[in-house]
Amino acid sequence: MHPETSVKLMKVVNSIRELNQILAVIRENGGQIGFVPTMGALHEGHLSLVRESVRENDVNVVSIFVNPTQFNDKNDLVSYPRTLEADCRLLEAEGCDIVFAPSEEEMYPEPDTRVFNLGRVAEVMEGAFRPGHFNGVAQVVSKLFDIVQPDAAYFGEKDFQQIAVIREMVRQLGYTLRIVACPILREPDGLAMSSRNVRLTPSQRQNAPVIARTLKESTTFVPGKSVEEVKAHVIETINREPEMKVEYFEIVDGNTLESIRDWSETQFPVGCITVFCGPVRLIDNIKY
Ligand code: PAF
Repeated sequence: MHPETSVKLMKVVNSIRELNQILAVIRENGGQIGFVPTMGALHEGHLSLVRESVRENDVNVVSIFVNPTQFNDKNDLVSYPRTLEADCRLLEAEGCDIVFAPSEEEMYPEPDTRVFNLGRVAEVMEGAFRPGHFNGVAQVVSKLFDIVQPDAAYFGEKDFQQIAVIREMVRQLGYTLRIVACPILREPDGLAMSSRNVRLTPSQRQNAPVIARTLKESTTFVPGKSVEEVKAHVIETINREPEMKVEYFEIVDGNTLESIRDWSETQFPVGCITVFCGPVRLIDNIKY
């Protein structure tokens, strides 16, 4: 870390203007800026992104903003956990330099009416089941990239499709930053870490690891069983568990996100799943 480019104590900034001023000085001094966009309610998964960003850059910015435009379900938006103070304590301990925590008015002084055309990667799976979701993600992430102008941005692979959509947005808009995909972090029982896990009741929490367990088990069936057989096994096994309902499970080419029918169609098969555990929507994925 170059002393002249570092920010000594973690700053919590709410205004775009103030953030611009701070980051302009860092850029003028040649500081590399790493950026981790989040919606808060931070867990180890987020912190692993922050660690990577802190390791690779001179200055690390984490945004905390529960972006309303990406929630197609208003109940999900209302019940999304908000824990700003605890988040800031965790970030400070990780050596984060700047937390950007804007209000809704700051981010959207007027409604964002931009419509992105991000092609097939944004239409399948989450794109089909959560209409408008990726458009909202592209709105907020492009705004954040414009504000922070990072050299690198860090995203978790739990949201495997989101990374593909953001890469496509970056390509279309000509951003020159690096997108860094970081591995999924899991609880000791395998459940993928997610801010939504705190909403599970004790019995739902006990059942939820069936998702990761079944995905992992399904890798042992490849290539002996067909894609259809593996899909059917995963869906049936998870649906047998109380309060669990698979919304979709697709085995796709990890680059195009197109569903495959035969293992020979891709060198990079990925199983992407969404499961309702009671009212809580959990997602996960596995590489075959
Ligand atoms: O992955 C998330 O938490 C959000 O979709 C993101 C990237 C912070 C945009 O609001």
